[in-house]
Amino acid sequence: MFDKYQVIKKAVNYELANFVFNYFLLKRDAVNFMYRNNITYDNGTLGTWSDEQIPNTYSHYADPVMETLLIKMLPVMKEHTGLDLIPTYSYARAYKKGDTLHRHKDRPSCEISTTLNLGGDPWPIFIDGTGADNVLDERRNIIKPNAPEGTKVMLEVGDMLVYSGCDLEHWREPFEGNICGQVFLHYNHVNGPFADKNKFDGRPMLGLPSFVK
Ligand SMILES: [Fe+2]
Repeated sequence: MFDKYQVIKKAVNYELANFVFNYFLLKRDAVNFMYRNNITYDNGTLGTWSDEQIPNTYSHYADPVMETLLIKMLPVMKEHTGLDLIPTYSYARAYKKGDTLHRHKDRPSCEISTTLNLGGDPWPIFIDGTGADNVLDERRNIIKPNAPEGTKVMLEVGDMLVYSGCDLEHWREPFEGNICGQVFLHYNHVNGPFADKNKFDGRPMLGLPSFVK
């Protein structure tokens, strides 16, 4: 049963994770080519390098493959957590060397958050199971002195960390590897306070960009 956070080992098998990882890197490179050569531009449908949380790193809201994974993982999530859930949205990133994820809590569409390791170099995520608020300034990464150190979680390819994203602070230290693909699959409690508003993150259906709300 779910209690704040848990790891689902081999939530997807290596072959599928690796396939999605390679797909996402190919997409990143092709989209980068198209943006640089003015074949198309960043209109919110093909991913971006302008995400405020991790600037200059390829990030993608609601890539159709990741949204398909969001649906595929729903029964796995229900089985492992015992929770009844609705999908909200997916978000994928290809992290690069030097990236940091500042300590933070998530917005209400991320009641039940997951991060699934698609591939690349290992990179731990930290999670503070106490639920305390220790962030003084997220953008500048200023944390209260004596903040809990958190629990270090290492995910192998295909493993998934499930956590209460709105309640528990989570973060990553500066990345020393070269590449790390992660997809965040977000869910809400089916009868939770945000369920009506947050189904599909407020979009008419999955697969649509975030501006279609
Ligand atoms: Fe988060």
